[in-house]
Amino acid sequence: MHEVVIRGALVFDGSDRTGEVTDVAIDNGYISAIGTLADAAAGTTIDARGLALAPGFIDVHTHDDIEVIRNPAMLSKLSQGVTTVVVGNCGISASPVRIHGEVPDPMNLLGDAADFRFADFASYRMAVEHAAPAVNVAALVGHTALRQNHMDRLDRAASEAEIAAMRAQLRQSLDQGALGLSSGLAYASAFHAPASEVEALALELPEDGLYATHLRDEFAGVLDAMEEAFTAARAPQARVRVSHLKCAGIDNWGRSQQVLECLQNAARQQDVACDCYPYAASASTLDLKQVTDAYDILITWSDPEPDQGGRLLADIAAHWQMSLHDAAIRLQPAGAVYHGMDEADVRRILSHPLTMIGSDGLPRDPRPHPRLWGTFPRVLGHYARDEKLFPLHTAVHKMTGLPASRFAMGKRGFIRQGWCADLVLFDPARVRDTANFHDPVRAAEGIASVWVNGRLAYDGQTVLAHSGQFITPQASPAG
Ligand code: ZN
Ligand code: CU
Repeated sequence: MHEVVIRGALVFDGSDRTGEVTDVAIDNGYISAIGTLADAAAGTTIDARGLALAPGFIDVHTHDDIEVIRNPAMLSKLSQGVTTVVVGNCGISASPVRIHGEVPDPMNLLGDAADFRFADFASYRMAVEHAAPAVNVAALVGHTALRQNHMDRLDRAASEAEIAAMRAQLRQSLDQGALGLSSGLAYASAFHAPASEVEALALELPEDGLYATHLRDEFAGVLDAMEEAFTAARAPQARVRVSHLKCAGIDNWGRSQQVLECLQNAARQQDVACDCYPYAASASTLDLKQVTDAYDILITWSDPEPDQGGRLLADIAAHWQMSLHDAAIRLQPAGAVYHGMDEADVRRILSHPLTMIGSDGLPRDPRPHPRLWGTFPRVLGHYARDEKLFPLHTAVHKMTGLPASRFAMGKRGFIRQGWCADLVLFDPARVRDTANFHDPVRAAEGIASVWVNGRLAYDGQTVLAHSGQFITPQASPAG
């Protein structure tokens, strides 16, 4: 007798192959049988005819570090079919961190000074386990977080002694279960770190360890920035994950082919891949270097001018009768959405076989970029089904089997007997994102049920179980 049998769904197993109608059984948190189970007795039987069953989606690029503790129901992700989040991206992580004074930009995207309570990785991991989030959590350690711990100011390179201290802290975090290292070299808080500083830190990574990077330059200098990332990982033989790969800024539009060729060339020599979110607009803190009148910039929050949230920077500047630049200074610290990408580039990058899906959602933003609630159903519904950018099984692969094997997640990301029962049942005809730039906090449609470690965690309406686990790096048997 099985605990649960899901009957008659079109099963996408997480590989890049077409689906197959079959039955799947769940017992004790694992997938216990796959095949015709018509005669098998079950505690719960689900008639899933007409629906699709896939491995739970893996959001490889999040800033949910503190959100999984503050708000463990994680409805924004569970309602998309996401069962695992990777936190600690873009050089910013909740641990190991000891804040002295102000929280540096962009660590303020994660929380306030009081939220950074985890002086070492082990205490962060314990806090996550204690909070019992509804999704699995794996965590990177941020280069900027390490700089913040050991440097009096961030607008300079680290000294040798500071690098040694950062390395020791990274080493300890890796020993305590961190997935790898991340960097956010475009931000002022890390921009002054020379390539050699990151290379020295990366030496602490084990062979096949992970280095995820928000490149130093996503504009004109993107190719050099990619080379910098590949170089950093070469000596330790680590794996490079380029975060939210894009061609940013109008002068840079149309270069996605070049950028992808660069990625593909590197892939012949070393393990490289990237993630991407399915929108032609980015979001982060308001950055003076990115202020331009070439495209719309939407202010999502502002500490000194909270009433300006939801308005365009150009309108605010006109109202205040000042330049965009001066208006931006008056708004800071602030958050912004930049409509600075070309749709054709986004599509080309999303379609590439080395591209995984990562939301880069900002859960703390009061008016978040819609990617926080919409990324995964948007890829399935809008891009795969409606726009036919790639087949549905490829969309599923980009959010399941590909990231699980590329992010060392052990027996997750595929529907296989004996593997973890992280599963999502969805309606392939109806699945779609409903969050948009004007109304960004809206759950997806068409996600019927989500299981996390074998427990029904979401029924299309409500979070029913908090059965996420903390995931430490494990080689994937899928290779
Ligand atoms: Zn980033
Ligand atoms: Cu990010």
